[in-house]
Amino acid sequence: MELNAVRNSYARWAPIYDQTFGRLTNAGRRRSVAYINQYTGTVLEVGVGTGLSLPHYKPDLAVTGIDFSEEMLDKARDKVRLRKLDHVTELRQMDARTLDFPDDHFDTVTAMHVLSVVPEPERVMSEIARVCKPGGQVVIANHFARERGFLAILERLTAPLENVLGWHSDFAIERVLQDPRLSVDLNRPHPPFGMMTFLVLRKA
Ligand SMILES: C[S@@+](CC[C@H](N)C(=O)[O-])C[C@H]1O[C@@H](n2cnc3c(N)ncnc32)[C@H](O)[C@@H]1O
Repeated sequence: MELNAVRNSYARWAPIYDQTFGRLTNAGRRRSVAYINQYTGTVLEVGVGTGLSLPHYKPDLAVTGIDFSEEMLDKARDKVRLRKLDHVTELRQMDARTLDFPDDHFDTVTAMHVLSVVPEPERVMSEIARVCKPGGQVVIANHFARERGFLAILERLTAPLENVLGWHSDFAIERVLQDPRLSVDLNRPHPPFGMMTFLVLRKA
């Protein structure tokens, strides 16, 4: 998607996101955070959106969230304030293609349902790899294109609507697996109904 389309699309999604796509993907989001909660230290959530994941992190992690959409971030800020989520240390407006953090900074970097939305996903993955500490992990939950079947046809038919839908429906997994600093530790189906993919990449 183009950045302007992201801004417009997620300004429209923000008021209804938690009750629609957010609800549909909640089981997977909780499972992703449960995985991250096995570890310690700092977490960067890229494209944190309305902050649906934030209440599920264990309190001794230090979580930073960034998102391009101010409307989505406002919803996340409300959650942090109303639920007193003290483990969320920072929520900032930022383009994931140019992360304003030093190299080798976070123990875990996560992106849930974001990589098929951002412009230039390869550049976002390069930034994610840069800010992740050596030995750290990158946790991704996303929908990737199917190769065959009715749903694969549907994904290809709806692909031109990406700027309206707010995501790229036939997004190839290879686009997030290209950075030489990251190797695949885990790759498995993820809720709902195994439609999503859960990936853990490790930085050498
Ligand atoms: C489908 S939502 C996912 C939100 C959240 N991760 C979740 O699981 O509910 C995609 C998010 O990516 C954000 N996004 C898109 N392009 C971005 C960019 N270039 N930089 C930062 N965030 C971006 C959108 O604003 C939106 O909040």
